[in-house]
Amino acid sequence: SSVEEQMYRPNFHYTPKTGWMNDPNGMFYADGQYHLYYQYYPDGNKWGPMHWGHATSKDLIKWEEQPIAIYPDKDKYIFSGSAVVDINNTSELGIGKSAPIVAIYTLHDMTKEKENKIDVEQQDIAFSNDNGFTWQKFEKGNPVLKNPGIRDFRDPKVTWDETHKQWIMALAAQDRTQFYSSENLKSWKYLSEFGKNIGAHGGVWECPDFFQMEVEGSNETKWVLIQSLNPGGANGGSGTQYFIGDFDGTTFTLDSNFAKKVEQQKAVWIDYGKDNYAGVTWNNIPSTDGRRLFIGWMSNWDYAQDVPTNAWRSSTTIARAIQLVKKGNEYSLVSNPVREIDKYISKTIKVKSLNGKGKLSIPEAGKIDLTQAIINFNLKNLQQHTYTFTLSNAAGESLTFGINNSDHYLFLDRTKSGKIDFSEKFAAAITKAILDGNQKEAAFKIILDKTSIEIFYNNGEKVITELFFPNQPFTTLSVSSNQGIELNNLVINQLNI
Ligand code: FRU
Repeated sequence: SSVEEQMYRPNFHYTPKTGWMNDPNGMFYADGQYHLYYQYYPDGNKWGPMHWGHATSKDLIKWEEQPIAIYPDKDKYIFSGSAVVDINNTSELGIGKSAPIVAIYTLHDMTKEKENKIDVEQQDIAFSNDNGFTWQKFEKGNPVLKNPGIRDFRDPKVTWDETHKQWIMALAAQDRTQFYSSENLKSWKYLSEFGKNIGAHGGVWECPDFFQMEVEGSNETKWVLIQSLNPGGANGGSGTQYFIGDFDGTTFTLDSNFAKKVEQQKAVWIDYGKDNYAGVTWNNIPSTDGRRLFIGWMSNWDYAQDVPTNAWRSSTTIARAIQLVKKGNEYSLVSNPVREIDKYISKTIKVKSLNGKGKLSIPEAGKIDLTQAIINFNLKNLQQHTYTFTLSNAAGESLTFGINNSDHYLFLDRTKSGKIDFSEKFAAAITKAILDGNQKEAAFKIILDKTSIEIFYNNGEKVITELFFPNQPFTTLSVSSNQGIELNNLVINQLNI
């Protein structure tokens, strides 16, 4: 309905016009466009026979839906995977001078699944000779990687490994990541595996990503493995952890300090919110740009099929630039919204500082449409208190977030945020992200888009992404603390997208 459109269709997070969407797939950049494919079922609003839907963008913010890219044959679903621009035509699937785009995905055989067979999943390829708009399955050569006798054997992420001059595939194999290499994308050699008994294992591993990155401000490089799992995420259900280490062309070895961190914390998460799953990064970003760009599915298998939208279900997160930073001997990833969002700022209200006790309302927020906004602020001289920010509406609904600086965690509470009882799991608990101890200052960047909040803490050191479904838009913002508040540089930006 138009009420649903108005209230819940995001302004700038990608949603298909109709139908069901889950994981982002096969992202690459070519010919001035960012391509995004995704797990798609066009004929219903719950998961079903999987296609690859397709959308394109010139700036990662405004998306244009394209015709469906890859259709399943009967009972042969097209599961998650990746796509590469085969610049040197190693696959020999190109025609003339233009580089073929090769998609590598899991073919999931529902007939075999119903028969309880093990070899349900195999890796197939398809190719495009028009920069990703139309595709042909590689009928004469599929599968390019057969099932070796592992039931969960899926979500190939292929990248060009410039250091070892090979195509490298990371694949989720039940409770571990497997690595394969290839010269031509058509035949694959098993290299090694990683992760059994390392990191979080509350559920099956899915949708890995594996790539080399430069450490910010140096020439040093490390390898990053992103590895989703479901269930067993940071705050329940679906979640995405990551690992940092070295890769010699065959084996991935965890950095020793990072290994300690994983042991202490059980896992290190790319996002602590409940709604960022199966995220992977773009291939073929030009070296003149050099960013590592990530996007996730902004939902959670715990309730994705029950959220209160009907015409469509699910959106992507905002695209994020990921950086690898080193502090002392510790490596970590930080993520921040892509800078392209800034060009959609149509109005900015600055509140120099706000000092006081108890609950302080921020009247300036009322002048901004908070259904598409970016809010930045810093907290100075933090005491060992809890600082709570509240977005609310006239219906008495609210979304709260902030920092508990006595027990040292960030939190997000959607238990009173409107529609919550479509699923028991949606608002069963308050989301928390544990901090490294007492914080003296805190910087927040908050992105709001109708039904989502994305919190980037301290320049992306910690991220919390979650959905909410109020019955009326949130129109007010306040901050409270049982003691004093020193809020600085509060900037509320109106977006117009
Ligand atoms: C993750 C996932 C993938 C699979 C796809 C199926 O959300 O389960 O492992 O390829 O969804 O749609």
